[in-house]
Amino acid sequence: MSKIIAGNWKMNGSRESLKIMSEALKELKTDNTVIICPPFTFLGENDSKISFGAQDVSAHESGAYTGEISAKMISDTGAKFVIVGHSERRQYHNESNKLVAQKAIAALGAGLTPIICVGETREQKESGQTLEIIETQVRESLPENASSAIIVAYEPVWAIGTGLVPTMDDIANVHAHIAKTLKSLGFGGTPILYGGSVKGSNAAEIMAIDYVGGVLVGGASLKPDDFLPIINA
Ligand code: PGA
Repeated sequence: MSKIIAGNWKMNGSRESLKIMSEALKELKTDNTVIICPPFTFLGENDSKISFGAQDVSAHESGAYTGEISAKMISDTGAKFVIVGHSERRQYHNESNKLVAQKAIAALGAGLTPIICVGETREQKESGQTLEIIETQVRESLPENASSAIIVAYEPVWAIGTGLVPTMDDIANVHAHIAKTLKSLGFGGTPILYGGSVKGSNAAEIMAIDYVGGVLVGGASLKPDDFLPIINA
């Protein structure tokens, strides 16, 4: 089954590295949906092979919000997706579930598909709260209108950029729980991505797990040598 492979470049890359990635992806034969989320300033490149996404969006439509970028502006660049509620936004910019839901609604209003991120911290995992935390984040970070097309990404905070990955059983449990929660909210069938230290060597195993609809990749999405093996997995 075809999967969604999304690359989150965070505050990395350059026009040149995006060009190198585009060229490499042109050669690729895949049924998977490949999404690159570079910094805002690199959006607007036209390439039929890649779908683009932003890494954040303002919850506001327009107005006096210095430094913010609206969903319509992102959509104007040709981008189709936007990541909302990434743990780095939640952690460094104090984004709450409520704000994440507002951003998802703003994205949908401009025709973008939000990739809504959830994930537990190391302490929450160690105290056995993972499923409870994830369920609350999913319930509170989602837009109310269940007819909307969204994507959810499960990214354990402690697995991001650390080389640590949950056991395959843990990923399976969390994804099954998210799928059940989404169904109860009317979002059945929503793709659920896994993110956190995904690389070429673990991507196939992770994507074979039930309810894993693809992966959200950080560090390994910056260079074709690292990213292509994940897409081909
Ligand atoms: P990582 O990041 O792949 O570098 O762990 C994932 C993410 O933050 O989306």
